[in-house]
Amino acid sequence: MNERYDHYDSWAWLYDETIGPCYGIEQFTVLERVLLPHLSPGAHLFDLCCGTGQLIRSLLKAGYQVTGLDGSEEMLVRARVNAPEADYILEDARKYREVGKYDAAFSTSASLNHIPTLADLRAVFANIFASLRNDGIFVFDLNHPEQMKKWWRDRPLEGTLNKDWAWMVTPSYQSEENKGQFRVTTARRSKNNPFFSAFLRPFKIALYKLLSRERFIGLRLKLIQGLAKIEPHWDHRQMEFSVTGHSLEDILKILKEVGFHQVDLQALDGKSDLDADHSAYFICRKENGGA
Ligand SMILES: C[S@@+](CC[C@H](N)C(=O)[O-])C[C@H]1O[C@@H](n2cnc3c(N)ncnc32)[C@H](O)[C@@H]1O
Repeated sequence: MNERYDHYDSWAWLYDETIGPCYGIEQFTVLERVLLPHLSPGAHLFDLCCGTGQLIRSLLKAGYQVTGLDGSEEMLVRARVNAPEADYILEDARKYREVGKYDAAFSTSASLNHIPTLADLRAVFANIFASLRNDGIFVFDLNHPEQMKKWWRDRPLEGTLNKDWAWMVTPSYQSEENKGQFRVTTARRSKNNPFFSAFLRPFKIALYKLLSRERFIGLRLKLIQGLAKIEPHWDHRQMEFSVTGHSLEDILKILKEVGFHQVDLQALDGKSDLDADHSAYFICRKENGGA
């Protein structure tokens, strides 16, 4: 396996403006509950698949030392701006290990669903196990097959729109193969602004502002689907990202195989049953002395 996973290069600019900040806030709250109470002040943390670094920024503020790894150079360009005091590694998660370096590791926002096979996922877990100090903790969340079967129905699920750009995500899942995709539709205003479109612009801006309210999500997604007709001069693109719905049983098995004998599995919010409405959250401990 010589490739580095760099697919997020194509929409790093948008991720940094939209999902990145939201996920950063949400995931910090989860780490405050499941991980941070177990760490010493100033502990060295490893953010596997760190994206645009918003979560790292909060952890630095809380006094931790953080190293982030991502396969996308463009995501790391943004991370270096958002959290410049951290260290960054441009590498594939399947290839990186530094023995005994970190007190804890985490991977958030279902990043590991991008790891295509169980053999690859096993390599990632083995790398993390080796890179942790004794007593180290590894936490990560994943979308699981039941959840994807229920929600990934080839219908637009979320999206935003403003005067300069729009985006929308449409996830789908084929349960027979445990494979999923999410299609990201983006549109960005270009500088080329003909007279007619300039004339209509104030009306469009008012409409987009109105539709950006949460309760208009249905109308907003419909409008984004037809945006190429309304904004023909914008730059319209579509990208597709592949994911795998690894079974929870398989994941527990390979975590144990690489040495994580103590694994707690819960719903992402820590309260609900682990059902089709909740992502799975794994809390794994490297026991003293290792495997
Ligand atoms: C959904 S984003 C999550 C980013 C960040 N953790 C967050 O919570 O916002 C997934 C990230 O995983 C990275 N990624 C996926 N597969 C990877 C791999 N095999 N090696 C390194 N990075 C990978 C992508 O480049 C992307 O930045």
